[in-house]
Amino acid sequence: MAGNRFEDAARVWDERYGTSEFVFGIEPNSYLAKQAPLLKAGQRALAVADGEGRNSVWLARQGLLVDAFDISSTGVAKARRLAQNAGVSVDYRVSDCATWVWSADAYDVIAAIFIQFADPTLRAQLFAGMATALRPGGLLILQGYTPKQLEYNTGGPGVLENLYTAPMLRAAFAELEIVELEEYEAELGEGTRHAGRSALVGMVARKPAHPAGDGTAAIAT
Ligand SMILES: C[S@@+](CC[C@H](N)C(=O)[O-])C[C@H]1O[C@@H](n2cnc3c(N)ncnc32)[C@H](O)[C@@H]1O
Repeated sequence: MAGNRFEDAARVWDERYGTSEFVFGIEPNSYLAKQAPLLKAGQRALAVADGEGRNSVWLARQGLLVDAFDISSTGVAKARRLAQNAGVSVDYRVSDCATWVWSADAYDVIAAIFIQFADPTLRAQLFAGMATALRPGGLLILQGYTPKQLEYNTGGPGVLENLYTAPMLRAAFAELEIVELEEYEAELGEGTRHAGRSALVGMVARKPAHPAGDGTAAIAT
């Protein structure tokens, strides 16, 4: 039942975040930070399942106008403190992604960093919501683990069906233009929960300025 699922996930993550340490650290995810040249001050950004705020705070420090949500009220409370200490403003909400309202064409940038709590059913809903919420020309920046991560066991959900491959992401986001999509391995040092050799996938994808079929894409300039 959705209500119980919310309470379970919220309780699990509240417990994980119930420490003075930032369990994923306070530095942004390195794949997100690598995309800095693509970002512009004043753009509207959404950090999905943002946890303790390391990525939303970094986006705000780049001058973006940032909204962020997470299911864990403990995580969001820590994120608010992180933002305050950094002297930036982020609009934080406690929400389940399953009930988040994905306003259409709302964001220039959506950061989806390690959101592999979602099983295939929730993932389909989540991916569709993110694509809807991107403005034409907006960027989705996504980082996750590939199935090989099950051998490393250095982070992630440990559930095969929740993991991503590059072909799976390409198919799931067929309506977006892929700017970059790569499976790779790296040493992660993101707090205590993402630590060590990791099998990763990173994707940057752009919502077409004129979605195919609206009749405007073919207009010559
Ligand atoms: C692996 S952590 C990543 C946090 C953050 N994105 C980062 O990179 O630091 C996954 C996050 O998903 C959140 N979460 C789990 N289930 C969720 C749901 N149904 N809706 C929203 N957030 C959820 C957890 O509270 C946790 O903060």
